[in-house]
Amino acid sequence: MDNLDLELEPLNSDHAQSMFQGLSDPALYTYTDDSPPESVDALRETYRRRECGISPDGRQHWLNWIIKSQISGQCLGYVQATIDHEDDRTEIAYVVFRKYWNQNIAKRAVAMMLELLRQDWRLRRVVAVIDSRNHPSVRVARALGFAPISRKSPQASKYDVIYELLPCQHELKHLERSSDVG
Ligand SMILES: CC(C)(COP(=O)(O)OP(=O)(O)OC[C@H]1O[C@@H](n2cnc3c(N)ncnc32)[C@H](O)[C@@H]1OP(=O)(O)O)[C@@H](O)C(=O)NCCC(=O)NCCS
Repeated sequence: MDNLDLELEPLNSDHAQSMFQGLSDPALYTYTDDSPPESVDALRETYRRRECGISPDGRQHWLNWIIKSQISGQCLGYVQATIDHEDDRTEIAYVVFRKYWNQNIAKRAVAMMLELLRQDWRLRRVVAVIDSRNHPSVRVARALGFAPISRKSPQASKYDVIYELLPCQHELKHLERSSDVG
């Protein structure tokens, strides 16, 4: 798929209908805490909360984009960034619908999102929390310059590893060896 074919469209509640089927695939949730939406209406309500772009307490900005094909107009997945102003930290996430896997869509869409974030926000720490068994996600993060820096808190899944995008990142090779990062 050509780079020009992808676009990021800011999420709004009208996307619920076209996202529902793709998001209903259990394969998307093998390595994450999320679960499939219960209904189009429930998804619309979730999107309505997200589209305001800010948490009720004002601590976080919620930025969400639908990944779309410019040619077909189809929704291919989504990317998101949660900017936590108190912690000075931005956590990203990405999902591509299964039938589009392995076409470089996640890498390209996340690169596009990082470019938007660089343009509009002065972010110091950009991280992704990745289950070390989720090899495709690890490949995406690494290709974009993320490196493993630590495990998540002891309460979290033992497989969760924090990947950070930093020019001076400190790569901890032992994390990869001990947790089978691909
Ligand atoms: C992770 C995810 C977004 C990747 O989407 P994608 O569009 O297929 O990603 P890309 O095509 O850009 O890159 C996939 C990479 O994984 C590699 N890959 C795919 N399957 C793999 C496997 N079983 N083992 C190892 N590597 C694998 C591909 O070869 C490619 O890497 P390469 O280009 O270095 O060869 C997609 O699998 C997904 O939505 N998963 C469910 C949600 C999820 O886990 N999101 C991440 C949460 S942290």
